[in-house]
Amino acid sequence: MLFKQQALLRQKLFVLGSLAIGSLLYLVARVGSLDRLQPLCPIDGRFGPRSQDEIPLRALQFKRGLLHEFRKGNATKEQIQLHNLVQQLPKAIIIGVRKGGTRALLEMLNLHPAVVKASQEIHFFDNDENYAKGIEWYRKKMPFSYPHQITIEKSPAYFITEEVPERIYKMNSSIKLLIIVREPTTRAISDYTQVLEGKERKNKTYYKFEKLAIDPNTCEVNTKYKAVRTSIYTKHLERWLKYFPIEQFHIVDGDRLITEPLPELQLVEKFLNLPPRISQYNLYFNATRGFYCLRFNIVFNKCLAGSKGRIHPEVDTSVITKLRKFFHPFNQKFYQITGRTFNWL
Ligand code: A3P
Repeated sequence: MLFKQQALLRQKLFVLGSLAIGSLLYLVARVGSLDRLQPLCPIDGRFGPRSQDEIPLRALQFKRGLLHEFRKGNATKEQIQLHNLVQQLPKAIIIGVRKGGTRALLEMLNLHPAVVKASQEIHFFDNDENYAKGIEWYRKKMPFSYPHQITIEKSPAYFITEEVPERIYKMNSSIKLLIIVREPTTRAISDYTQVLEGKERKNKTYYKFEKLAIDPNTCEVNTKYKAVRTSIYTKHLERWLKYFPIEQFHIVDGDRLITEPLPELQLVEKFLNLPPRISQYNLYFNATRGFYCLRFNIVFNKCLAGSKGRIHPEVDTSVITKLRKFFHPFNQKFYQITGRTFNWL
């Protein structure tokens, strides 16, 4: 009798256990399929009436599925036609600033279902040889996308290259331009660190940052040093303003993108007239990397390459102070022109 009761109890426990596991599996599958279900949602209703510039949505799943395969070149002409895929000129370009966080910005914007990134820096407008190949060459470098999506590319050299504003203007005078900036001295040191690493990789020696940034004859800031010049943001921006009104630029706070990326991305979504689709779910802090990483869905996530987020060498504090004093008036002008103020000392 006792044996029979125990067997019955075991059976009940087994059924209950199976039910619990079944429910759990269902929930996991459901969360995983949310992305795929999103295109069925009445998106217009959720975001209010769509303005002319706004873009209908596709699920992130498309990014990792079909488009991903196409990007890798695994598609036939028939498939491309069938899915109505196109290679579109960019509607927005991240024009700089080098070491401002341009890669992080591009990758994070690519989390948006209506954005497709050009993975490589194309250097069309800053490289005479590439530019001579013509706009069709440039368009062919763009990834496949659905017609409702927007393509974004980033080439930080654009910001500082003399010829670029006019060339971009000739392609599209109403293009949207993104500039991501960091505190100028930190950016200059980051720039130096990248070059230093390149030299070290080739077993070469290199000067200390202090030696490059300060002119030994005058003991003043060496404005001939490229890493210093690039950080004089206002000088470069003024050249761009000869072609584009300030409304066509959006300034991203690169220091904040490191510590608190979501609000910065939301400002960009707004600037690009995109419905807000990037959420905290898409960004998670990775303590090992010390940076935010990207979560596309329950299965796919990634951090930026190790070359992003290098440890900077220690720099003499008197040199840092000198540089900060030097950049101060240029920063003031930059705040004034852009209408965005930063707490750069
Ligand atoms: P450091 O290497 O000086 O830390 P760019 O892509 O324009 O070259 O910029 C590189 C910088 O992006 C890095 O500079 C890093 O600080 C910054 N960055 C911002 N968000 C990041 C992220 N989520 N992961 C890695 N680096 C990030």
